[in-house]
Amino acid sequence: MAYNIAVDGPAGAGKSTIAKAVAKKMNLIYVDTGMMYRAIALFVLRQKIDLQDSEKIVEACKSVDVTIRYEDGMQMVLLNGENVSARLRTEEVGTAASVISPIPEVRRKLVELQRKLAAESDCIMDGRDIGTCVLPDAQKKIYLTASSEVRAKRRYDELTAKGETCDLKKIREDIEERDYRDMHRETSPLKQAEDAILLDTSDMTIEEVIGKIISLCSDKQ
Ligand code: DC
Repeated sequence: MAYNIAVDGPAGAGKSTIAKAVAKKMNLIYVDTGMMYRAIALFVLRQKIDLQDSEKIVEACKSVDVTIRYEDGMQMVLLNGENVSARLRTEEVGTAASVISPIPEVRRKLVELQRKLAAESDCIMDGRDIGTCVLPDAQKKIYLTASSEVRAKRRYDELTAKGETCDLKKIREDIEERDYRDMHRETSPLKQAEDAILLDTSDMTIEEVIGKIISLCSDKQ
């Protein structure tokens, strides 16, 4: 049976950085489910479909094929065969993904792909509903969080380091708005699974969080 680690938590909690590092150290594949929702969002944006028009999005979904492939251990997302990985990390696509992800048809399609990947390989998978819905039987469940103030500051530092000018207050407002949407939707809202271990990373370094998760997974053969 494959060994699965489920990591959930709000935007900016460091899930992908940490999951990627744990995957490398524990020889697991890393499955970034947010990228899959982002790929569908990119399709919707490219088709210029109104993000509020669920009916049109459901219809469009029928002609969307999302698959993933690994290159040097990095997850690539293919949208109808095109490698769109480099186009998915923008704020515009992230917000659009948060807006369209409550649509049950969108989720059904992606959850199926996620479960298949987890059944085939030892993996660490991150998202919003992994411990509660996608992999309820995962061997380990982690709920990674940090205060919105800390998450906004980390995002601010990341953008400033890239030479972008940004406004800390606006970043924090956007993060809080996204949290609200992800936590209050009807389908698979973000919440801590009952059997998940809570890690508040507000006062932890990345290395401390990685070390903690690896020690929690010492039962892996
Ligand atoms: O983790 P991320 O920022 O790449 O995710 C983008 C959006 O996709 C997020 O705001 C909500 C949605 N999402 C989801 O609904 N379920 C998941 N398992 C992963 C992401």
